[in-house]
Amino acid sequence: MKIEPAASLRGDVAVPGVKGISQRAVLLAAIADGESEIRGFGHAEDTDVAMTAVRALGAGVDETPEGTIVVKGCGLRGLRPSDGSIDCQNAGTVLRLLSGILAGQPGRFVLTGDESLSSRDHERVAIPLRAMGAHVETTNGSAPVTIAGGRLRPITYSLPMASAQVKSAVLLAGLLAEAGPTTVVEPASTRDHTERLLSSLGVRVESRGGRISVWPVERLPPLTVEIAGDFSSAAPFLVAGALLADSEVRVHHVNVNPTRTAFLGVLERMGARVAVFGRGSIGGEPVATVAVNAAPLVATDIRPGEVSNLIDELPLFALLAANAHGDSVLSGAAELRAKETDRIEAVVDGLRNLGAHIRATEDGFVVRGVPARLRGGTIDARGDHRIAILGAVAGLLSREGVEVEGAESVAVSFPGFYDLLELLAVRGIPPEDTRE
Ligand code: S3P
Repeated sequence: MKIEPAASLRGDVAVPGVKGISQRAVLLAAIADGESEIRGFGHAEDTDVAMTAVRALGAGVDETPEGTIVVKGCGLRGLRPSDGSIDCQNAGTVLRLLSGILAGQPGRFVLTGDESLSSRDHERVAIPLRAMGAHVETTNGSAPVTIAGGRLRPITYSLPMASAQVKSAVLLAGLLAEAGPTTVVEPASTRDHTERLLSSLGVRVESRGGRISVWPVERLPPLTVEIAGDFSSAAPFLVAGALLADSEVRVHHVNVNPTRTAFLGVLERMGARVAVFGRGSIGGEPVATVAVNAAPLVATDIRPGEVSNLIDELPLFALLAANAHGDSVLSGAAELRAKETDRIEAVVDGLRNLGAHIRATEDGFVVRGVPARLRGGTIDARGDHRIAILGAVAGLLSREGVEVEGAESVAVSFPGFYDLLELLAVRGIPPEDTRE
């Protein structure tokens, strides 16, 4: 798909519900009692996988005409192995979190994934689950994964890397352990959606100084949850709005959980005009409208301690940096190499093809910013939704447009992305912007 240049981005949008909360809500609803209701579910391939998976494990899943997802839960230890294996496709969050839940269910479960997921490390989850007493087998360290679940004992586990997925897998297994608490120690703070959802269900969760503990429960009550827009899906609009002159973009009803929004601080220190207003709270999570106006941007460095709270926005940061005045450095982000694709290589190769001055380092990249439009060209999404989205935003900011190969992968997190972008894009390039 070819994304043509735009002069500016103007208007109001809403984006799909937080992917990770949609997945977590469905997984928890499957082991809750009775009927759970999930409003604002962020439909996408990665979240639909969560619904298919719990259906295969015995839960009932329906959608009302108003779009509310209704899940009939099986009870805390009521999930049963399906006839075949459960395909988690591209969804790392489903594979990791479901592993934690299945570790405490009686039975033998097999979880598979697509080519990308089958090359991502799953030992990071298997190691702590084994320490809790589960039998977990990986295939060369990855999916397919076989889990023989049963009785679990509580552990205290220091995460070797900052990962909300691994943290969540251990905490969910802790919910099913024989005694408590199960404690995870984080090297850096990561998204706390699991903790917030569990707390909202009355589970005892304590979080202090990077130590998060969960106590087991006898049963989980049904959930009634409403989900606001995903900050990571709002981010591409904020970036295009910050970079294209005369832009004015407002994204409404966005989840602004502080463990997700460190990117706003980066935008601000680069000089973008960002406003967060209309703050409220839904489903135990903060929500607000986020607005951005274009302004000349200056380079900035992203330090290792900031990385985990803007991990999924780092591809877009590279594009901001490529258009800012000065040199920007990202370091401490080796985890990017463990995502749907090696995102350091994908971003560096992709943006360089479009005319950016960027080079990879072991744990990040270095960008020489030029505050002028990129030339444009072709970018290969490598099957990674965040790289396809990066390519599309780069297309708006280019002189010649950008052909996104594998553009359809946006459906993993944001099926309507291109339509929404088109709706806001004011086409053309101002004459003063056409210079090289
Ligand atoms: C996620 C956590 C992050 C993130 C992913 C979703 C989650 O992964 O990159 O897109 O929902 O917990 P890690 O926890 O592996 O860093």
